[in-house]
Amino acid sequence: MLAADRKMALGVFARANGHHEGAWRLPESPTGPELDFHGFWLGLAHLAESACFDLFFLADVDGLRGSEADLAALSHDPARYVSQFEPMTLLAALAVTTRHIGLAGTASTTYNEPYHVARKFASIDHLSGGRSAWNIVTSSVQATAANFGKDKHLAHDARYRQAHEFVAVVKGLWDSYEDDAFLRDKASGLFFDTSKLHYLNHRGEHLAVKGPLNLARPPQGHPVLIQAGASEPGKALAAEVADIIFGSSGSLQGAQAFYADVKARAAQHGRHPDHVKVLPGLFTVVGRTRQEAQEKNARLLSLVHPEVGFSLLEELLGVSLRGYPVDGPLPDELPPSNQQKALRDRLVETAKREKLTIRQLYTRQIGSHGVYTMTGSPTDIADEMEQWFCEGAADGFNIMASDYPGGFADFVHLVVPELRRRGLVRTEYRGRTLREHMGLPRPEHPARASGPAP
Ligand SMILES: Cc1cc2nc3c(=O)[nH]c(=O)nc-3n(C[C@H](O)[C@H](O)[C@H](O)COP(=O)(O)O)c2cc1C
Repeated sequence: MLAADRKMALGVFARANGHHEGAWRLPESPTGPELDFHGFWLGLAHLAESACFDLFFLADVDGLRGSEADLAALSHDPARYVSQFEPMTLLAALAVTTRHIGLAGTASTTYNEPYHVARKFASIDHLSGGRSAWNIVTSSVQATAANFGKDKHLAHDARYRQAHEFVAVVKGLWDSYEDDAFLRDKASGLFFDTSKLHYLNHRGEHLAVKGPLNLARPPQGHPVLIQAGASEPGKALAAEVADIIFGSSGSLQGAQAFYADVKARAAQHGRHPDHVKVLPGLFTVVGRTRQEAQEKNARLLSLVHPEVGFSLLEELLGVSLRGYPVDGPLPDELPPSNQQKALRDRLVETAKREKLTIRQLYTRQIGSHGVYTMTGSPTDIADEMEQWFCEGAADGFNIMASDYPGGFADFVHLVVPELRRRGLVRTEYRGRTLREHMGLPRPEHPARASGPAP
Protein backbone atom coordinates (compact mmCIF):
# COMPACT_ATOMS: atom_id res chain seq x y z
CA MET A 1 0.00 0.00 0.00
CA LEU A 2 1.41 3.36 -1.00
CA ALA A 3 1.46 6.01 1.72
CA ALA A 4 -0.29 9.08 0.33
CA ASP A 5 2.55 11.38 1.23
CA ARG A 6 5.30 9.11 -0.07
CA LYS A 7 7.23 11.02 -2.72
CA MET A 8 10.05 9.99 -5.02
CA ALA A 9 13.51 11.26 -4.20
CA LEU A 10 15.40 12.53 -7.23
CA GLY A 11 19.12 12.87 -7.70
CA VAL A 12 20.99 14.09 -10.73
CA PHE A 13 24.16 12.13 -11.48
CA ALA A 14 25.95 15.20 -12.80
CA ARG A 15 28.61 14.84 -15.44
CA ALA A 16 30.20 17.37 -17.77
CA ASN A 17 28.88 16.17 -21.11
CA GLY A 18 26.35 13.52 -20.23
CA HIS A 19 26.30 9.79 -19.65
CA HIS A 20 26.22 8.84 -23.30
CA GLU A 21 29.69 8.53 -24.78
CA GLY A 22 28.42 10.34 -27.91
CA ALA A 23 26.91 13.27 -25.98
CA TRP A 24 29.88 15.62 -26.17
CA ARG A 25 29.78 15.49 -29.99
CA LEU A 26 26.14 16.56 -30.36
CA PRO A 27 26.12 19.89 -32.24
CA GLU A 28 23.87 21.36 -29.53
CA SER A 29 26.19 20.31 -26.65
CA PRO A 30 28.47 23.00 -25.19
CA THR A 31 32.19 22.77 -25.90
CA GLY A 32 34.41 22.55 -22.81
CA PRO A 33 31.74 22.36 -20.09
CA GLU A 34 33.94 20.32 -17.77
CA LEU A 35 35.94 23.33 -16.55
CA ASP A 36 33.21 25.95 -16.94
CA PHE A 37 31.80 26.56 -13.46
CA HIS A 38 29.50 29.52 -14.15
CA GLY A 39 28.52 28.53 -17.68
CA PHE A 40 27.86 24.86 -16.96
CA TRP A 41 28.05 23.42 -13.43
CA LEU A 42 26.18 26.16 -11.64
CA GLY A 43 23.49 26.23 -14.32
CA LEU A 44 23.05 22.47 -14.02
CA ALA A 45 22.71 22.66 -10.23
CA HIS A 46 20.20 25.51 -10.49
CA LEU A 47 18.21 23.56 -13.07
CA ALA A 48 18.03 20.58 -10.68
CA GLU A 49 17.13 22.88 -7.80
CA SER A 50 14.35 24.50 -9.86
CA ALA A 51 12.78 21.03 -10.13
CA CYS A 52 13.24 20.40 -6.39
CA PHE A 53 15.81 17.62 -6.85
CA ASP A 54 17.09 16.15 -3.60
CA LEU A 55 20.65 15.51 -4.73
CA PHE A 56 23.35 16.81 -7.02
CA PHE A 57 25.78 13.90 -7.22
CA LEU A 58 29.38 13.85 -8.43
CA ALA A 59 31.11 10.53 -9.06
CA ASP A 60 34.87 10.36 -8.93
CA VAL A 61 37.89 8.27 -9.75
CA ASP A 62 41.45 9.24 -8.79
CA GLY A 63 43.01 8.82 -12.19
CA LEU A 64 42.08 8.14 -15.79
CA ARG A 65 39.48 5.46 -16.23
CA GLY A 66 41.72 3.25 -18.31
CA SER A 67 45.39 2.36 -18.78
CA GLU A 68 48.04 3.48 -21.25
CA ALA A 69 46.82 0.68 -23.54
CA ASP A 70 43.44 2.46 -23.65
CA LEU A 71 44.74 5.85 -24.74
CA ALA A 72 43.24 5.55 -28.22
CA ALA A 73 39.79 5.08 -26.68
CA LEU A 74 40.31 7.69 -23.98
CA SER A 75 41.25 10.28 -26.56
CA HIS A 76 37.73 9.97 -28.01
CA ASP A 77 35.86 9.87 -24.70
CA PRO A 78 35.89 12.76 -22.20
CA ALA A 79 33.70 10.79 -19.77
CA ARG A 80 36.68 8.61 -18.76
CA TYR A 81 37.78 11.20 -16.18
CA VAL A 82 40.39 12.61 -18.53
CA SER A 83 39.87 16.17 -17.26
CA GLN A 84 37.57 16.88 -14.40
CA PHE A 85 37.34 18.86 -11.20
CA GLU A 86 38.21 17.33 -7.86
CA PRO A 87 34.65 16.84 -6.49
CA MET A 88 35.01 18.40 -3.02
CA THR A 89 36.37 21.60 -4.56
CA LEU A 90 33.47 21.76 -6.99
CA LEU A 91 30.97 21.02 -4.19
CA ALA A 92 32.48 23.82 -2.09
CA ALA A 93 31.79 26.26 -4.92
CA LEU A 94 28.23 24.94 -5.23
CA ALA A 95 27.70 25.05 -1.45
CA VAL A 96 27.74 28.84 -1.54
CA THR A 97 25.93 29.34 -4.84
CA THR A 98 22.96 26.99 -4.31
CA ARG A 99 20.43 27.08 -1.47
CA HIS A 100 18.50 23.85 -1.11
CA ILE A 101 19.84 20.92 -3.09
CA GLY A 102 21.89 18.15 -1.43
CA LEU A 103 25.54 18.07 -2.51
CA ALA A 104 26.92 14.56 -2.83
CA GLY A 105 30.54 13.75 -3.60
CA THR A 106 32.53 10.55 -3.89
CA ALA A 107 35.54 9.66 -1.76
CA SER A 108 37.33 6.34 -1.62
CA THR A 109 37.96 4.42 1.60
CA THR A 110 40.97 2.73 -0.03
CA TYR A 111 42.87 5.83 -1.14
CA ASN A 112 42.17 8.41 1.57
CA GLU A 113 42.82 8.86 5.25
CA PRO A 114 39.58 8.99 7.28
CA TYR A 115 40.66 12.23 8.96
CA HIS A 116 40.77 13.96 5.54
CA VAL A 117 37.40 12.59 4.52
CA ALA A 118 35.71 13.48 7.81
CA ARG A 119 37.04 17.01 7.73
CA LYS A 120 36.17 17.71 4.10
CA PHE A 121 32.56 16.48 4.26
CA ALA A 122 32.04 18.22 7.61
CA SER A 123 33.36 21.43 6.03
CA ILE A 124 30.97 21.16 3.08
CA ASP A 125 28.16 20.47 5.55
CA HIS A 126 28.95 23.69 7.44
CA LEU A 127 29.45 25.71 4.24
CA SER A 128 26.12 24.55 2.80
CA GLY A 129 24.05 24.72 5.98
CA GLY A 130 23.65 20.93 6.25
CA ARG A 131 23.46 19.64 2.68
CA SER A 132 26.49 17.41 2.24
CA ALA A 133 26.52 13.71 1.40
CA TRP A 134 29.39 11.23 1.00
CA ASN A 135 29.27 8.52 -1.66
CA ILE A 136 31.42 5.82 -0.06
CA VAL A 137 33.38 3.82 -2.62
CA THR A 138 36.15 1.28 -2.24
CA SER A 139 37.58 2.07 -5.75
CA SER A 140 37.47 -0.42 -8.55
CA VAL A 141 39.29 1.39 -11.35
CA GLN A 142 42.69 -0.26 -11.61
CA ALA A 143 44.58 2.85 -12.73
CA THR A 144 44.02 4.43 -9.31
CA ALA A 145 46.31 2.00 -7.49
CA ALA A 146 49.40 3.18 -9.36
CA ASN A 147 48.71 6.77 -8.33
CA PHE A 148 49.01 5.79 -4.67
CA GLY A 149 52.20 3.74 -4.67
CA LYS A 150 50.50 0.37 -5.23
CA ASP A 151 50.91 -2.19 -8.02
CA LYS A 152 47.30 -3.30 -7.65
CA HIS A 153 44.25 -2.76 -5.45
CA LEU A 154 43.71 -4.58 -2.19
CA ALA A 155 41.49 -7.63 -2.86
CA HIS A 156 37.74 -6.87 -3.15
CA ASP A 157 36.84 -8.41 0.24
CA ALA A 158 39.72 -6.71 2.00
CA ARG A 159 38.70 -3.34 0.50
CA TYR A 160 35.24 -3.73 2.01
CA ARG A 161 36.57 -4.88 5.42
CA GLN A 162 38.70 -1.75 5.50
CA ALA A 163 35.69 0.32 4.37
CA HIS A 164 33.63 -0.76 7.42
CA GLU A 165 36.38 0.37 9.76
CA PHE A 166 36.98 3.56 7.76
CA VAL A 167 33.31 4.63 7.91
CA ALA A 168 33.14 3.93 11.66
CA VAL A 169 36.21 6.12 12.17
CA VAL A 170 34.78 8.97 10.05
CA LYS A 171 31.52 8.87 12.01
CA GLY A 172 33.48 8.83 15.26
CA LEU A 173 35.45 11.88 14.12
CA TRP A 174 32.24 13.75 13.25
CA ASP A 175 31.20 13.08 16.87
CA SER A 176 34.41 14.60 18.26
CA TYR A 177 32.42 17.47 19.74
CA GLU A 178 28.90 17.32 21.09
CA ASP A 179 26.48 19.65 19.32
CA ASP A 180 26.59 22.27 22.07
CA ALA A 181 30.31 22.06 22.87
CA PHE A 182 31.15 25.53 21.57
CA LEU A 183 30.25 28.15 24.18
CA ARG A 184 32.13 31.08 22.62
CA ASP A 185 31.53 32.90 25.92
CA LYS A 186 33.25 36.25 25.63
CA ALA A 187 32.49 37.13 29.27
CA SER A 188 34.20 34.07 30.82
CA GLY A 189 36.69 33.59 28.01
CA LEU A 190 35.67 29.95 27.61
CA PHE A 191 35.53 29.02 23.92
CA PHE A 192 34.47 25.41 24.26
CA ASP A 193 33.49 22.99 27.01
CA THR A 194 36.20 20.30 27.35
CA SER A 195 33.69 17.84 28.83
CA LYS A 196 31.95 17.87 25.43
CA LEU A 197 35.07 16.99 23.47
CA HIS A 198 35.68 13.30 22.83
CA TYR A 199 38.94 11.75 21.67
CA LEU A 200 38.30 8.79 19.38
CA ASN A 201 41.43 6.81 20.34
CA HIS A 202 40.77 4.30 17.57
CA ARG A 203 43.21 1.43 17.03
CA GLY A 204 41.83 -1.19 14.67
CA GLU A 205 42.88 -3.76 12.11
CA HIS A 206 43.63 -1.17 9.39
CA LEU A 207 43.55 2.27 10.98
CA ALA A 208 44.82 4.17 13.99
CA VAL A 209 43.24 7.59 14.57
CA LYS A 210 43.41 9.45 17.85
CA GLY A 211 41.20 12.43 17.02
CA PRO A 212 39.50 14.69 17.79
CA LEU A 213 38.48 16.30 14.51
CA ASN A 214 39.32 19.99 14.57
CA LEU A 215 35.85 21.04 13.44
CA ALA A 216 32.49 21.42 15.18
CA ARG A 217 29.91 18.67 14.69
CA PRO A 218 28.29 19.01 11.23
CA PRO A 219 24.83 20.63 11.07
CA GLN A 220 23.38 17.26 10.00
CA GLY A 221 25.19 15.48 12.85
CA HIS A 222 26.60 13.21 10.18
CA PRO A 223 26.53 14.15 6.48
CA VAL A 224 24.24 11.78 4.56
CA LEU A 225 25.97 8.48 3.70
CA ILE A 226 25.55 6.95 0.25
CA GLN A 227 26.76 3.54 -0.93
CA ALA A 228 26.47 1.73 -4.25
CA GLY A 229 27.93 -1.69 -3.61
CA ALA A 230 26.21 -4.45 -5.55
CA SER A 231 28.28 -7.47 -4.44
CA GLU A 232 27.67 -9.33 -1.15
CA PRO A 233 30.20 -7.28 0.85
CA GLY A 234 28.99 -4.14 -0.95
CA LYS A 235 25.37 -4.74 0.05
CA ALA A 236 26.41 -5.64 3.59
CA LEU A 237 28.18 -2.29 3.98
CA ALA A 238 25.30 -0.39 2.38
CA ALA A 239 22.66 -1.99 4.60
CA GLU A 240 24.66 -1.29 7.74
CA VAL A 241 25.66 2.33 7.17
CA ALA A 242 24.05 3.97 4.13
CA ASP A 243 21.17 6.45 4.27
CA ILE A 244 20.93 6.23 0.47
CA ILE A 245 21.76 3.21 -1.67
CA PHE A 246 22.40 3.72 -5.37
CA GLY A 247 21.23 0.57 -7.14
CA SER A 248 22.33 -0.40 -10.61
CA SER A 249 19.93 -3.17 -11.66
CA GLY A 250 19.29 -3.71 -15.33
CA SER A 251 15.65 -4.82 -14.94
CA LEU A 252 12.54 -4.19 -12.81
CA GLN A 253 12.77 -7.71 -11.33
CA GLY A 254 16.44 -7.25 -10.51
CA ALA A 255 15.70 -3.90 -8.87
CA GLN A 256 12.85 -5.39 -6.82
CA ALA A 257 15.09 -8.19 -5.58
CA PHE A 258 17.86 -5.72 -4.71
CA TYR A 259 15.38 -3.41 -2.93
CA ALA A 260 13.89 -6.23 -0.83
CA ASP A 261 17.34 -7.59 -0.05
CA VAL A 262 18.95 -4.35 1.18
CA LYS A 263 15.83 -3.26 3.13
CA ALA A 264 15.73 -6.65 4.90
CA ARG A 265 19.45 -6.44 5.66
CA ALA A 266 18.99 -2.90 7.03
CA ALA A 267 16.19 -4.16 9.29
CA GLN A 268 18.55 -6.84 10.63
CA HIS A 269 20.78 -4.00 11.78
CA GLY A 270 17.82 -2.54 13.67
CA ARG A 271 17.31 0.20 11.09
CA HIS A 272 13.90 1.48 9.98
CA PRO A 273 13.46 0.54 6.29
CA ASP A 274 12.17 4.06 5.50
CA HIS A 275 15.48 5.46 6.69
CA VAL A 276 17.34 3.67 3.92
CA LYS A 277 16.41 5.18 0.55
CA VAL A 278 17.07 3.04 -2.50
CA LEU A 279 17.72 5.14 -5.60
CA PRO A 280 18.51 3.07 -8.70
CA GLY A 281 20.56 4.74 -11.39
CA LEU A 282 18.34 5.49 -14.36
CA PHE A 283 19.77 6.29 -17.78
CA THR A 284 17.29 8.46 -19.68
CA VAL A 285 16.91 9.52 -23.29
CA VAL A 286 13.91 11.85 -23.40
CA GLY A 287 11.98 12.99 -26.47
CA ARG A 288 8.71 14.83 -26.89
CA THR A 289 7.52 11.62 -28.53
CA ARG A 290 8.78 8.03 -28.38
CA GLN A 291 10.02 8.33 -31.94
CA GLU A 292 11.93 11.52 -31.18
CA ALA A 293 13.65 9.78 -28.25
CA GLN A 294 14.58 6.77 -30.38
CA GLU A 295 15.96 9.05 -33.08
CA LYS A 296 18.03 10.87 -30.50
CA ASN A 297 19.38 7.57 -29.21
CA ALA A 298 20.38 6.54 -32.74
CA ARG A 299 21.98 9.95 -33.30
CA LEU A 300 23.98 9.59 -30.08
CA LEU A 301 25.12 6.05 -30.92
CA SER A 302 26.33 7.16 -34.36
CA LEU A 303 28.70 9.57 -32.61
CA VAL A 304 30.53 6.91 -30.55
CA HIS A 305 33.93 5.82 -31.88
CA PRO A 306 34.09 1.95 -32.05
CA GLU A 307 37.30 1.95 -29.99
CA VAL A 308 35.36 3.63 -27.17
CA GLY A 309 32.73 0.88 -27.02
CA PHE A 310 35.30 -1.93 -27.04
CA SER A 311 37.38 -0.33 -24.33
CA LEU A 312 34.31 0.48 -22.21
CA LEU A 313 33.43 -3.21 -22.18
CA GLU A 314 36.98 -4.12 -21.17
CA GLU A 315 36.73 -1.62 -18.33
CA LEU A 316 33.36 -2.96 -17.14
CA LEU A 317 34.61 -6.57 -17.26
CA GLY A 318 38.03 -5.72 -15.82
CA VAL A 319 39.89 -7.74 -18.49
CA SER A 320 41.65 -7.20 -21.82
CA LEU A 321 39.74 -8.41 -24.88
CA ARG A 322 42.51 -7.52 -27.36
CA GLY A 323 42.84 -10.15 -30.05
CA TYR A 324 39.19 -11.26 -29.83
CA PRO A 325 37.10 -10.42 -32.92
CA VAL A 326 34.57 -7.67 -32.20
CA ASP A 327 31.87 -9.60 -34.05
CA GLY A 328 32.55 -12.83 -32.18
CA PRO A 329 31.49 -13.97 -28.70
CA LEU A 330 33.22 -13.24 -25.41
CA PRO A 331 35.94 -15.78 -24.60
CA ASP A 332 34.53 -18.82 -22.74
CA GLU A 333 36.73 -18.32 -19.70
CA LEU A 334 37.49 -14.75 -18.67
CA PRO A 335 40.55 -14.28 -16.46
CA PRO A 336 39.62 -13.30 -12.87
CA SER A 337 39.25 -9.62 -12.03
CA ASN A 338 39.59 -7.72 -8.79
CA GLN A 339 37.23 -4.92 -9.90
CA GLN A 340 33.44 -4.62 -9.80
CA LYS A 341 31.93 -8.08 -9.39
CA ALA A 342 28.17 -7.94 -9.71
CA LEU A 343 28.01 -6.04 -13.01
CA ARG A 344 30.68 -8.24 -14.60
CA ASP A 345 28.75 -11.40 -13.66
CA ARG A 346 25.53 -9.92 -15.08
CA LEU A 347 27.17 -8.92 -18.39
CA VAL A 348 28.80 -12.32 -18.87
CA GLU A 349 25.54 -14.09 -18.04
CA THR A 350 23.52 -11.90 -20.48
CA ALA A 351 26.05 -12.35 -23.28
CA LYS A 352 25.94 -16.15 -22.88
CA ARG A 353 22.15 -16.35 -22.58
CA GLU A 354 21.44 -14.10 -25.56
CA LYS A 355 24.50 -15.25 -27.57
CA LEU A 356 25.71 -11.67 -28.01
CA THR A 357 28.86 -10.66 -29.85
CA ILE A 358 31.35 -8.32 -28.21
CA ARG A 359 30.00 -5.45 -30.37
CA GLN A 360 26.37 -6.19 -29.43
CA LEU A 361 27.28 -6.36 -25.76
CA TYR A 362 29.17 -3.06 -25.68
CA THR A 363 26.53 -1.26 -27.74
CA ARG A 364 24.04 -2.03 -24.96
CA GLN A 365 26.34 -0.61 -22.26
CA ILE A 366 27.02 2.70 -23.97
CA GLY A 367 25.57 5.47 -21.86
CA SER A 368 23.92 3.24 -19.29
CA HIS A 369 26.98 1.25 -18.14
CA GLY A 370 24.64 -1.50 -17.02
CA VAL A 371 21.94 0.54 -15.26
CA TYR A 372 18.33 0.48 -16.47
CA THR A 373 17.57 2.58 -19.56
CA MET A 374 14.38 4.49 -20.22
CA THR A 375 14.13 5.90 -23.74
CA GLY A 376 10.83 7.48 -24.64
CA SER A 377 8.24 10.21 -24.30
CA PRO A 378 7.57 11.93 -20.95
CA THR A 379 4.59 9.65 -20.42
CA ASP A 380 6.58 6.49 -21.22
CA ILE A 381 9.26 7.44 -18.73
CA ALA A 382 6.86 8.60 -16.01
CA ASP A 383 4.87 5.34 -16.40
CA GLU A 384 7.95 3.22 -15.79
CA MET A 385 9.23 5.37 -12.95
CA GLU A 386 5.82 5.16 -11.30
CA GLN A 387 5.80 1.39 -11.67
CA TRP A 388 9.27 1.04 -10.13
CA PHE A 389 8.30 3.40 -7.29
CA CYS A 390 4.96 1.72 -6.54
CA GLU A 391 6.03 -1.90 -7.03
CA GLY A 392 8.90 -2.14 -4.54
CA ALA A 393 11.87 -1.36 -6.78
CA ALA A 394 12.77 2.23 -5.83
CA ASP A 395 12.30 5.08 -3.36
CA GLY A 396 13.45 7.42 -6.08
CA PHE A 397 16.03 7.61 -8.85
CA ASN A 398 19.51 8.82 -9.58
CA ILE A 399 18.96 10.36 -13.00
CA MET A 400 21.73 9.77 -15.54
CA ALA A 401 20.69 11.92 -18.49
CA SER A 402 22.04 11.05 -21.91
CA ASP A 403 23.45 14.57 -22.38
CA TYR A 404 23.98 17.64 -20.20
CA PRO A 405 22.59 20.16 -20.07
CA GLY A 406 20.17 19.46 -22.98
CA GLY A 407 18.96 15.95 -22.14
CA PHE A 408 18.65 16.83 -18.45
CA ALA A 409 16.72 20.01 -19.30
CA ASP A 410 14.33 17.79 -21.28
CA PHE A 411 13.91 15.59 -18.20
CA VAL A 412 13.22 18.63 -16.00
CA HIS A 413 10.88 20.37 -18.43
CA LEU A 414 9.05 17.35 -19.85
CA VAL A 415 9.20 14.43 -17.38
CA VAL A 416 9.13 16.27 -14.03
CA PRO A 417 5.82 18.09 -14.84
CA GLU A 418 4.28 14.70 -15.65
CA LEU A 419 5.56 13.27 -12.33
CA ARG A 420 4.15 16.33 -10.53
CA ARG A 421 0.78 15.95 -12.24
CA ARG A 422 0.66 12.42 -10.79
CA GLY A 423 1.63 13.67 -7.31
CA LEU A 424 4.77 11.52 -7.30
CA VAL A 425 7.42 14.15 -6.55
CA ARG A 426 7.81 17.04 -4.13
CA THR A 427 7.19 20.56 -5.38
CA GLU A 428 9.03 22.38 -2.59
CA TYR A 429 11.94 21.79 -0.29
CA ARG A 430 11.19 20.57 3.23
CA GLY A 431 13.27 21.72 6.17
CA ARG A 432 16.71 23.22 6.05
CA THR A 433 19.05 20.25 5.64
CA LEU A 434 19.29 17.37 3.20
CA ARG A 435 18.29 14.97 6.00
CA GLU A 436 15.18 17.02 6.75
CA HIS A 437 14.23 17.23 3.08
CA MET A 438 14.62 13.48 2.54
CA GLY A 439 13.03 12.45 5.84
CA LEU A 440 16.26 10.94 7.19
CA PRO A 441 16.83 11.13 10.96
CA ARG A 442 19.66 13.26 12.34
CA PRO A 443 22.07 10.94 14.24
CA GLU A 444 22.14 11.82 17.91
CA HIS A 445 25.54 12.32 19.46
CA PRO A 446 26.52 9.03 21.22
CA ALA A 447 27.00 10.90 24.52
CA ARG A 448 23.36 12.00 24.29
CA ALA A 449 22.04 8.69 22.97
CA SER A 450 23.41 6.83 25.98
CA GLY A 451 21.72 9.31 28.36
CA PRO A 452 23.21 11.40 31.16
CA ALA A 453 26.01 9.91 33.23
CA PRO A 454 24.77 8.38 36.50
C1 LIG B 1 25.24 5.29 -9.33
C2 LIG B 1 26.61 4.75 -9.04
C3 LIG B 1 27.65 5.62 -8.83
C4 LIG B 1 28.94 5.15 -8.58
N1 LIG B 1 29.95 6.05 -8.42
C5 LIG B 1 31.21 5.60 -8.25
C6 LIG B 1 32.29 6.51 -8.17
O1 LIG B 1 32.10 7.71 -8.23
N2 LIG B 1 33.55 6.03 -8.01
C7 LIG B 1 33.80 4.68 -7.91
O2 LIG B 1 34.97 4.31 -7.75
N3 LIG B 1 32.79 3.78 -7.98
C8 LIG B 1 31.51 4.21 -8.16
N4 LIG B 1 30.47 3.31 -8.27
C9 LIG B 1 30.78 1.87 -8.13
C10 LIG B 1 30.32 1.33 -6.79
O3 LIG B 1 30.92 2.01 -5.71
C11 LIG B 1 30.59 -0.16 -6.66
O4 LIG B 1 31.97 -0.43 -6.70
C12 LIG B 1 29.92 -0.91 -7.79
O5 LIG B 1 28.53 -0.65 -7.78
C13 LIG B 1 30.19 -2.41 -7.72
O6 LIG B 1 29.83 -2.95 -6.50
P1 LIG B 1 30.87 -3.80 -5.66
O7 LIG B 1 31.98 -2.84 -5.27
O8 LIG B 1 30.07 -4.24 -4.46
O9 LIG B 1 31.37 -4.93 -6.49
C14 LIG B 1 29.18 3.76 -8.53
C15 LIG B 1 28.11 2.88 -8.73
C16 LIG B 1 26.85 3.35 -9.00
C17 LIG B 1 25.72 2.37 -9.23
